[in-house]
Amino acid sequence: MACSYTIFLPLVFFMFIVPITNSRPLVENLTNTNNVTHSIPAIFVFGDSTVDPGNNNFIGTIFKSNFPPYGNDYPTHTPTGRFTNGKLTTDYIASYLGIKESVPPYLDNTLGLEELMTGVSFASAGSGYDQLTADTYKVIPIQQQLEYFKEYMTKIEQQIGKGEMEARINKSGFIISAGTNDFVLNYFALPGRRKQYTITEYQDFLVQNTRNFVQALVDLGARKIGVVGVAPIGYLPAVMTLSSDNRTLLEFYTDVAKGYNQKLQNELQSIMKNNSAYIGLQVLRSRGEDVAGRLTYDFLFHTISGFTGFEQWRKGCCGTGVIEMGFLCNPNSYICPNRSKFIFWDSIHPTEKTYNLLFLAFRTMIDTLAS
Ligand SMILES: *[C@@H]1O[C@H](CO)[C@@H](O)[C@H](O)[C@H]1NC(C)=O
Ligand SMILES: *[C@@H]1O[C@H](CO)[C@@H](O)[C@H](O)[C@H]1NC(C)=O
Ligand SMILES: *[C@@H]1O[C@H](CO)[C@@H](O)[C@H](O)[C@H]1NC(C)=O
Ligand SMILES: *[C@@H]1O[C@H](CO)[C@@H](O)[C@H](O)[C@H]1NC(C)=O
Ligand SMILES: *[C@@H]1O[C@H](CO)[C@@H](O)[C@H](O)[C@H]1NC(C)=O
Ligand SMILES: *[C@@H]1O[C@H](CO)[C@@H](O)[C@H](O)[C@H]1NC(C)=O
Repeated sequence: MACSYTIFLPLVFFMFIVPITNSRPLVENLTNTNNVTHSIPAIFVFGDSTVDPGNNNFIGTIFKSNFPPYGNDYPTHTPTGRFTNGKLTTDYIASYLGIKESVPPYLDNTLGLEELMTGVSFASAGSGYDQLTADTYKVIPIQQQLEYFKEYMTKIEQQIGKGEMEARINKSGFIISAGTNDFVLNYFALPGRRKQYTITEYQDFLVQNTRNFVQALVDLGARKIGVVGVAPIGYLPAVMTLSSDNRTLLEFYTDVAKGYNQKLQNELQSIMKNNSAYIGLQVLRSRGEDVAGRLTYDFLFHTISGFTGFEQWRKGCCGTGVIEMGFLCNPNSYICPNRSKFIFWDSIHPTEKTYNLLFLAFRTMIDTLAS
């Protein structure tokens, strides 16, 4: 993942035509799985592989996962383009809210109006808040994801009118999960940004981009926004491998992520104050402690719903688990017998089990967004 690749295919974006069908009431009351009524009609997702359900299937990038063993445990037992063995946290959220069973990729041109109306993901594996990250790996920059959302709004407006469209956007949930790739695939992997920015400056640059992105969503009418902070990057198996397991270095990387999350929290609070929006920042942290980082693992091992079943967090389930992801995790790879014992599915991406536990950890934020 720290290599730069030389084979780039041309970008092909698929246009889609919205079929006209009868749809259910525009803004209705739904119930979540605890039978709590809410009025979130749709979920919109932006970011990277942690929330990309397969947009990269439709573009020319090497960052794909639409082949086995990805998707082994998905309800259809087929690869979807999700970088895990099954569902993503965003799928669990949609299902919990009673909206639908999974959030589909926007670039799938077969989606019907109902599917579009209840929400889509614009996320693209390999992307980040720094446009250079996405450009380097020929994936969809988050700024372009915003353009797709504007295109989406225009299409929906043509179907249901401006007023109804705006009412839906006002009540919808927005989830943004990105930033990890900017550090792992860009700043620490390639020389360009390191020459240009100190770490502090790069953190500030990313925070500014994140802030602008969130503000742009607010300006388009979004009012319920969940932002996921950067993962404890030092403890991703691939990073541990490439850093030769150097503790000092791993702690250092993780502190960089913590620093960014802290700065972001301050920025988002200021946006929230100036707008009548709810913006929740979810950082992975140990219960009761206001820090992101290595404690995530303590959190995952011991405190989420009392789950103590993980036995492996240093390696992914696919292949040797220390370096494979994307095309290196393929039908010829060894698969661990019980993926629920692994935090990671490949050397970067969590297993479905972890995504489910993350959903449980985020549920307070989701309930607040929905109330
Ligand atoms: C939705 O719930 C609200 C508050 O509980 C209620 O006033 C409204 O009539 C409900 N709308 C529908 C369509 O059931
Ligand atoms: C929610 O309501 C449905 C249908 O009434 C019922 O089958 C289910 O058990 C309820 N769930 C909870 C958690 O109360
Ligand atoms: C949008 O939502 C906010 C609070 O969530 C509310 O105060 C406002 O009136 C809503 N605007 C529209 C046009 O529905
Ligand atoms: C670990 O990384 C730190 C920071 O880069 C470096 O100073 C130290 O020499 C490394 N230790 C080993 C054992 O390689
Ligand atoms: C919030 O409003 C204050 C005063 O108008 C302004 O100084 C500040 O820059 C605004 N912050 C954001 C994040 O828009
Ligand atoms: C797989 O691992 C999980 C978590 O440790 C455990 O609860 C489950 O029983 C295991 N399944 C099998 C078939 O061993």
